[in-house]
Amino acid sequence: MTLRFLTSGESHGRGYLVVVEGLPAGLALPRERFVAELARRRRGFGRGPRMALERDELTFWGGLRGGRTTGAPLGLTLGNSEWESWRPVLDPEAIDAEAAAAKAAHCPRPGHADLAGLVKYGHGDCRDVLERASARATAAWTVIGVVGRLLLESVGVAVRGAVDAIGGVTCSLPGDDAQWERAARADLGCAREEDEPALIARIRAASESGETLGGTFVVSVTGMPAGVGSYVELDRRLDGRLAGALMAIPAVKGVEVGLGFRLAEVDGSQAQDEIVAEGGLRRRTNRAGGLEGGMTNGEEILLRAAMKPIPTLRRPLASVDIRDGRARSAHVERGDVCAVPAAVVVAEALTAWTVAQALAEQFGGDQASELRERVTAFRRKGEPFHGGN
Ligand SMILES: Cc1cc2nc3c(=O)[nH]c(=O)nc-3n(C[C@H](O)[C@H](O)[C@H](O)COP(=O)(O)O)c2cc1C
Repeated sequence: MTLRFLTSGESHGRGYLVVVEGLPAGLALPRERFVAELARRRRGFGRGPRMALERDELTFWGGLRGGRTTGAPLGLTLGNSEWESWRPVLDPEAIDAEAAAAKAAHCPRPGHADLAGLVKYGHGDCRDVLERASARATAAWTVIGVVGRLLLESVGVAVRGAVDAIGGVTCSLPGDDAQWERAARADLGCAREEDEPALIARIRAASESGETLGGTFVVSVTGMPAGVGSYVELDRRLDGRLAGALMAIPAVKGVEVGLGFRLAEVDGSQAQDEIVAEGGLRRRTNRAGGLEGGMTNGEEILLRAAMKPIPTLRRPLASVDIRDGRARSAHVERGDVCAVPAAVVVAEALTAWTVAQALAEQFGGDQASELRERVTAFRRKGEPFHGGN
């Protein structure tokens, strides 16, 4: 079974339209889980004023009856509460020339899709690019992440995330369930309260000097049986699919699996996870981050990603006016100083979606109960090798 989704919509448009196809019937999708996750995506000290305005008005259209999937494509929309004020600029059928001119952008921002997008589609106004290239689309991805997460939860798999560093200021990674839980709830996405003042000070200083910040974050997946994914073809390797999904998040510039880049520096004996017989076959370390040969190995999947600083600066960088070729400052669009705590939520969402996709492909089933039974049977078969994870 192939799980897939498509979205349509623009940042300041009427909203986002999401269609998810391939979901098994009988999966519970409670509205409050979507609302909670969308609220988490808006979190973070250093977010722009838009986060206070965004409402993410969620409406289900099809594929759901009484809170359970029917097997038909799941359709939903995320309405934009600012739509009426932007309608003259972005109306799909007729725009107001004066309103559109007032919002036009002719000086592409370095680090954004603006310039390459103009070239690619032949537009004369960066607005035609930036509305779709905007990270607001990650709200739609957050929604599909909830669908993936609920499917995973139905087979005992959990996805969690935490901030690792912002602008070079590091915080401790979660060491137990309570700390993962705190990272999920905390505005800054970090595991320990005592780390927050330094992060806040770093973000405040950047904001005061018109700067922006990036950072790193981690995502963990627990409860996966060994042997999900594949070593037989490039596009079925789960490590590649997960890295691709995280790398596709706007502003993410690096992804590591397990110890990642640090593995390049150590001796071979220090880079692998030796196999020991202790209640099934076990590993004493998890340097591989739960993935070997493109498949899960039964250990926790551990991913880490690096986000660059937000490219829209209040003190804009050098650009060129595309109308006359003269040097001008880049366009300024209202935005965030730091979005690392929000990016973790998006990364959790895309991880959940990608793992759910791999599970659905491998185990199939048109009914949620079939998928559960097949995963349970597969776990049982693997028990002698990895203790039934
Ligand atoms: C959650 C999130 C929020 C973001 N907020 C902004 C923002 O407010 N302003 C901005 O210029 N870029 C923001 N970005 C980053 C840009 O969307 C991204 O840098 C841009 O689309 C160019 O893509 P690239 O950096 O992957 O090349 C955000 C990214 C994420 C993941």
